[in-house]
Amino acid sequence: MAVKRTPFIAGNWKMNLDHLQSIAFVQKLAWSLADAKHDFADAEVAVFPPFTDLRSVQTLVSADSLPIAYGAQDVSAHDSGAYTGEISGAFLAALDCRYVIIGHSERRTLHGESDADINAKVLAAHRHGLIPVLCVGETAEDLEAHGPSAVPVAQLRAALEGVDGSKGLVVAYEPVWAIGSGQAATPDQAEQVAAALRGVLTEVFDDEIAQATRVLYGGSVKAANIASFLREPNVDGALVGGASLDIAEFSSIARFKKHVGA
Ligand code: PGA
Repeated sequence: MAVKRTPFIAGNWKMNLDHLQSIAFVQKLAWSLADAKHDFADAEVAVFPPFTDLRSVQTLVSADSLPIAYGAQDVSAHDSGAYTGEISGAFLAALDCRYVIIGHSERRTLHGESDADINAKVLAAHRHGLIPVLCVGETAEDLEAHGPSAVPVAQLRAALEGVDGSKGLVVAYEPVWAIGSGQAATPDQAEQVAAALRGVLTEVFDDEIAQATRVLYGGSVKAANIASFLREPNVDGALVGGASLDIAEFSSIARFKKHVGA
């Protein structure tokens, strides 16, 4: 019997909103979801602000007991020491971050992160009790040359080297060609790759962990297309970039079940 996985709607703010803006944003998002009587059992909601916002978000979430989770957009592979500009998983854990995005395509391409770097970051996140939101995805050229699943499958395998699957993981399939392009993958394409990624989880860990792990789709997700992705059996939520910066739109995405009658 299939395990029930709570859908996960994650907002990747990228380098947007400073700490003051983050407070106003999270407060309004919480109000918007509360007004709509959002049931967090229907969809867990998380935001991924810039590092400098995290302390403010922590203070607000904890003071008002908001049911919104949060995490960072990256983590150092190292725990402490002479690594100028890096942020330790220990610091994120101290701010009660639950999640951390690792291996986003913008880190892979703009910062030259390799599969080995990403693997080291997944291990670092686990050392500090953080749940990685591990991003994988192919470029348009990869798609042309190798088909849809080959590159994300290889990236996932490499990232999971030596990883203990019982420590928690979310996988995000984000085709690079779909990110910020307005051209989302089709639900069929997302399902095909998500199923292949779940296959890797079974192979590397076991069926129980594979069935319990949420696999997200990311790339030009909006309120108008979210339900079509969530209807797919292997797609358990979305990693949302641009649309996560619009409170009404993001809260509408989180309420995908209600507003589109999915
Ligand atoms: P997008 O970004 O929703 O703006 O396409 C997704 C992401 O980069 O995580």
